[in-house]
Amino acid sequence: DKGNHRHFMEKEIHEQPEVISHTLAHYLDFTKSAAKPLDLPFDFARIERLAISACGTAYLAGLIGKYWFERYARLPVDIDIASEFRYREMPLSANDAALFISQSGETADTLASLRYCRSQGMTIGAVVNTRESTIAREADVTLPLLAGPEIGVASTKAFTCQLSVMASLAVRAAVARGTVSAEEEKALVRALSETPRYANQVLKTLDGQIETLARDLAHYRHVLYLGRDTSYPLALEGALKLKEISYIHAEGYAAGELKHGPIALIDENMPVIVIAPHDRIFEKTVSNMQEVAARGGKIILITDAKGAAQSTVKTMRTIVLPDMPEIITPIVYALPIQMLAYFTAVFMGTDVDQPRNLAKSVTVE
Ligand code: F6R
Repeated sequence: DKGNHRHFMEKEIHEQPEVISHTLAHYLDFTKSAAKPLDLPFDFARIERLAISACGTAYLAGLIGKYWFERYARLPVDIDIASEFRYREMPLSANDAALFISQSGETADTLASLRYCRSQGMTIGAVVNTRESTIAREADVTLPLLAGPEIGVASTKAFTCQLSVMASLAVRAAVARGTVSAEEEKALVRALSETPRYANQVLKTLDGQIETLARDLAHYRHVLYLGRDTSYPLALEGALKLKEISYIHAEGYAAGELKHGPIALIDENMPVIVIAPHDRIFEKTVSNMQEVAARGGKIILITDAKGAAQSTVKTMRTIVLPDMPEIITPIVYALPIQMLAYFTAVFMGTDVDQPRNLAKSVTVE
């Protein structure tokens, strides 16, 4: 049932504050501002590496997870898309753990990666939305997403719940490994507890602006998405979502890679969407925007109030989110990029919930 929404995708975008809150509460204790102790078949303090494998949007959630595990828990992460992971013959250690992220729990390549890791003697965790699924069944532990059923083929709420689980696990790992102080743990958990409030604010205040932006975007055939740090996987996700449902050709790039190739594409016919919350490398992204502007490129900047005040580059449009703690930016910034893909597809008149050639669950290789 779509309720009063036009599409399941729209409904699922709007469910996010609630399901994110639900998911976070499963892993975090908000009264104590602490990561809940989890009953895991491996010990974050004893493993030397974590392997992560997944497909599509779930892979991008894992990639953001890598930044968090490495930054907060100093835990190295090996991650690859499952179709590469399963064949790339990477050396894995039986003393380490592996995580498989999947909304459906049935994705063939992800399942094959799981079985490969199993054969190497690793301990397996399944981050899945569908608890009665093959991936959940074959894992040593299930780490549920609690997003509720996702009907729209383009993943939205499962993605932000995957991010919520990754962030919570990274904090848990950081505590276990002694890489954050008690104060830092509190601050991270408090920051995460604010995610639903910011997500709500974005949905309530940016809807109209993003719809207007989508009306412009629908006139273009190519779009480039740029970001650094955790905004880089988010740029990939923005491009994936846009091509999936609006059929506009979109590419996501790490902003620092611009001058290594894609800058050759820049002209007035290819808008460049830059995801850049004000962080320690904001200035680096600004200089990438200057390179785009100098070549006549049209910039759409998605930033926060601080970033908007400090950016010196002329943009076609700037979408301004509230300032928020660093750890939650990838979760909250996922919303405007989902909304942008959604409204653009609506303007293009595509079948938003059932885009051509795609299936919700990819059970063949
Ligand atoms: C994109 C999308 C796909 C899935 C991918 C993995 O919007 O939905 O890229 O993320 O097919 O599916 P699951 O998570 O079911 O393993």
